[in-house]
Amino acid sequence: MATEKSAVFIIFGGSGDLAHRKLYPALYNLYKTGDLKEHFAVIGTARRPWSDDYYRGTVVDSLKDIDDDEKAMEEFSKHFFYQSHDVTDSDHYIALKKLASKLDDQFQTGHNRVYYMAIAPRFFGTVAEHINSEGLKTDGFNRLVIEKPFGRSFDSACELNSSLTKTFSESEIYRMDHYLGKFMVQQLTRIRLKNRTFEKSLNNKYVSNVQVTLAESLGVEDRGGYYETAGVLRDMVQNHIMQIIGAVAMDEPAKLDSESIHEVKRDVFASLKDLKPEEVDKNFVRGQYGEDDTGSLKAYRDEDNVDPKSNIETFVAGKMMLDNDRWSGVPFYVRSGKRMPAKSSRIDIVYNDAVKELGINPNTTVTFLIEPENGNSILVNGVDYQEGNQDFLKFPEDPKYFSQEREAYENLMIDILDGNKIHFTLWDELQNAWKYVDVIRQQWDNETPDFPNYMSNTMGPDAASELLEKDGNSWIWDD
Ligand SMILES: NC(=O)c1ccc[n+]([C@@H]2O[C@H](COP(=O)([O-])OP(=O)(O)OC[C@H]3O[C@@H](n4cnc5c(N)ncnc54)[C@H](OP(=O)(O)O)[C@@H]3O)[C@@H](O)[C@H]2O)c1
Repeated sequence: MATEKSAVFIIFGGSGDLAHRKLYPALYNLYKTGDLKEHFAVIGTARRPWSDDYYRGTVVDSLKDIDDDEKAMEEFSKHFFYQSHDVTDSDHYIALKKLASKLDDQFQTGHNRVYYMAIAPRFFGTVAEHINSEGLKTDGFNRLVIEKPFGRSFDSACELNSSLTKTFSESEIYRMDHYLGKFMVQQLTRIRLKNRTFEKSLNNKYVSNVQVTLAESLGVEDRGGYYETAGVLRDMVQNHIMQIIGAVAMDEPAKLDSESIHEVKRDVFASLKDLKPEEVDKNFVRGQYGEDDTGSLKAYRDEDNVDPKSNIETFVAGKMMLDNDRWSGVPFYVRSGKRMPAKSSRIDIVYNDAVKELGINPNTTVTFLIEPENGNSILVNGVDYQEGNQDFLKFPEDPKYFSQEREAYENLMIDILDGNKIHFTLWDELQNAWKYVDVIRQQWDNETPDFPNYMSNTMGPDAASELLEKDGNSWIWDD
C-alpha cells in the first residue's frame, strides 16, 4: 500500500529530453500507484516561453507511450506549472520562489522541495548558489538532485561539490546514478542480506572473477556533442560501473539502511588498488567504433557533432583489483561500449572449484541480468535460477520479491521523497572513483590511439578478449 508523499518539485530544464523521457513518466507512475496524490506540484523551468497549458500538453504527450488513461493524465497534468527562467538571471529566482510558495499553500505540500537539475552540468553550481542567495530553501525538506556527469575529473568534481555545499549539506544532495535504481542491482543487495549461502560465497576463496558489462547496441545517436566531452570512461565507468562493483564487493552491511550500506561501500572504493600510469595499458583497453561490415552504420568519426579526427573512446574494457582481505587476487573485469551486437547490462560472478564446499556446483556462474530483461532474471550456469531449482539462491522468506518491479527513475524518486540515500552516490565514494579514473584518462590523453579499432556490431577490439585470456579467463557474455 503506497504512502502519499508531498513536495513541490522544481525541475530546472523542465522542457528538456531527460524531463520528458524519464522524469514525467516516473512521476506519473507514482501518481498511479498513489505515492503522489493531492499534495504535490511540479514547476518546470527553462528559457523558452511556454504557457502552463502548453507545458501540460507536453507532459501528457510524454506519457502517451505508457498509458492511455486520458482522464488520469489530464488530472495529473493539473499539478504542473511552467516558469520561463534563465538560470543565470537572479530575478527569475524571485518569481520562482513566489510561485513555489503559492503552490505550497495550494497543494499543502508541507514546504517540501525537490530541486532537480535536468540541465547542463555547467549550470549546477549557478542554480545552487541562486537557490541560496534568493532564499528559496524552506522549513520543509530541501533536496537537490543532480544527474551525471558530476564533474569531468577529480579536481572539477571537487570544485562542483564545493559550490553545491555552500547551499546544500551532503545529506541534502542526491547524486543520481540510475543504475542504482535498477531492480536487479537493488535485488543484489537484498539477496545478499537474505541468502546466507550466496553471501558466504562472495569472496576470494570461491570467486574466480567478476565481470560487469554495460553494452549498448546503439551508437551516439544525436548526442555526439555531449559524447565528445565525455567518452565511455567518464560516461559509464566512473559512475555506473564503479557503483555496481560497490554493490557486489561491499562487505555485508549490518542493516538494509543507507548508513550501513554506505559504510561498507565506502570501504570498497577506498580499497581500489592504485593504478600507476605505466600500468594503464596493461589493464585497460579503449576502442572507437568504425562502420559495420555492410557500411550501413556510420563510424563514430562520421557522426553529427563529432570531430572527424576524434580520439574519444566509445569502448572500454579493464581489469580492476581490490586490495582487501575479502577480494584481493580476484579480478573485476569491466566493459562498456557502444555499437556492440546487443544491449546487455549484466553482472557475471564466476566461481572456482572450491565453491563445492558450499554445496554449489564447481565452476558455476551466477549472472544478474540488469537490462534489457528489465528486472527479474538470474541465471545460474545459463539457466533461470527459478526453473533450474537453484536452491542456493533461494530466499524463502519472501517469494514475492521478484514481482515487485519499478522503473529505475521511479525507485529513485521514491527514495528522494522518503529521504533514503541508499541508492545514491556519496561524495567520498565519488572522490575515490574519480581518482582512479583520472589516472586512466590522463594516460590516454598522453597517447594517440589508433582509431577506429572495432567494427560496429562487434564485441569491441580484440585486445578486450586478450585482457582476460592473459589471466586464463574469458568473457562470459560473448557474441
Ligand atoms: N537525456 C538523458 O537521457 C540524460 C541521461 C543522463 C543524464 N542526463 C543529464 O541531464 C541533464 C539534461 O539533459 P537533457 O538530455 O535533458 O538535455 P536537453 O534536452 O538539452 O535539455 C536541457 C534543458 O535545459 C534548459 N536550459 C538550457 N539552458 C538554460 C538556461 N540558461 N536557463 C534555463 N534553462 C536552460 C533547456 O531549455 P531551454 O532551451 O528552453 O532553455 C532544456 O529544458 C544533463 O546534465 C545531462 O547530462 C541526461
